[in-house]
Amino acid sequence: MSNKAWGGRFEEKPEAWVDAFNASIHFDKELIHEDIRGSIAHVTMLANQGILTEDEKDQIIKGLNDVKADYLNGDMELSESLEDIHLNIEHALIQKIGEVGGKLHTGRSRNDQIATDLHLYTKDQVETIIEMIKFFQHTILKLANEHVETIMPGYTHLQRAQPISFAHHIMTYFWMLERDKSRFKDSLKRIDISPLGAAALSGTTYPIDRFDTQEQLGFGSVYENSLDAVSDRDYVVETLSNISLTMVHLSRFAEEIIFWSTDEAKFVTLSDAFSTGSSIMPQKKNPDMAELIRGKVGRTTGSLMSMLMTLKGLPLAYNKDMQEDKEGLFDAIHTIKGSLRIFEGMVATMKVNEDRLHETVHQDFSNATELADYLVLKDIPFRDAHEIVGKIVLWCIQNDKYLLDVPFEEYQKHHEKIEEDVYEYLKPANCLKRRKSYGSTGQEAVYEQLKVAKTYL
Ligand code: ARG
Repeated sequence: MSNKAWGGRFEEKPEAWVDAFNASIHFDKELIHEDIRGSIAHVTMLANQGILTEDEKDQIIKGLNDVKADYLNGDMELSESLEDIHLNIEHALIQKIGEVGGKLHTGRSRNDQIATDLHLYTKDQVETIIEMIKFFQHTILKLANEHVETIMPGYTHLQRAQPISFAHHIMTYFWMLERDKSRFKDSLKRIDISPLGAAALSGTTYPIDRFDTQEQLGFGSVYENSLDAVSDRDYVVETLSNISLTMVHLSRFAEEIIFWSTDEAKFVTLSDAFSTGSSIMPQKKNPDMAELIRGKVGRTTGSLMSMLMTLKGLPLAYNKDMQEDKEGLFDAIHTIKGSLRIFEGMVATMKVNEDRLHETVHQDFSNATELADYLVLKDIPFRDAHEIVGKIVLWCIQNDKYLLDVPFEEYQKHHEKIEEDVYEYLKPANCLKRRKSYGSTGQEAVYEQLKVAKTYL
């Protein structure tokens, strides 16, 4: 197949291996639906403007739909010498309906065509990602509702710090995802712009109507500047950035789940359906899904860097460098959708080991701050209280005890203001109960938080 679309001024044909380097068809075929949608809108507008006849329009639209059907049935042969999805479709169209197919490209260039396809695609995918985030948030919220009273150690420096509610812990990811969702939503106004009609770079002499195609394609606005329309890939960068940040958040959650399911922690048990075994160690049940999600942030962030570097220093308007925008974007979109889907399933089926968490918070010093606060209530300055509790903890470590097991006489030796009520005071559940400040981990505050979270969904 020779490339009829631009063969006119050429005396020699490119060799197949050169065509292969130039071609994007092996990845931009992902845009077939958007490309055909864009073409149908364009040709409809051409007829509305009297640039094509109604009959020509009808033939072209029928031809485009037939090409799509062929593609979906596996009956369309894609060719590298036809470079990309646009020229492959146009070629197939002309094969099907003859010369009139050649009128489709009137008043249009592949430059505004690819920009249109990519805007339509990105918009659609971002909308799907927003829905998937929301779905995952529902799952987190549901699990949180079941575990407001489940107490676990909260960490800083990955050292036990203070007891917190399990619900409170996982709700942190709900809020991260909420911000991610809001970033994706906000980005839509910069994605939802029609470049169609900008043609190669300068607009066109045909009496086209850009607002007609904008409306047909459901875009919120049109680019005001034809050069900008074909040169802008900001929205690709922004989408990659939003995807990468969401993946960073998922990777943090994944890391916690990996830790929680170790034999050392045993805080949660992943369902078999979301775990894998070892080919050599029969006892193993590995959290591969969580590890993969943690690892995949590398590729989305790589694509973000790659897009930024490709755009750096590019002169106006279209340059072939821009063909490099697609693989990273497609890959990042597949990656985040796959990760969100798996993560949701993993969390929905994961078992929270309440007994183990209960045991854990009763065998650590995460209530030490409480003991200091207890002394402060008895009018001891916080710095002194800190010092006293430090000494009590040291005694515990040397005598293999936790704060709830310290004999009363021992407490008395450290400070006479420590009374019998200290044991009630130090129970993890009571530590939480006293936290009433807004947004804190106290049971009441967490129930309030869950109520607010619900309004976001
Ligand atoms: N395959 C090209 C791309 O993805 C389409 C635009 C080609 N335009 C051009 N003037 N060669 O960027």
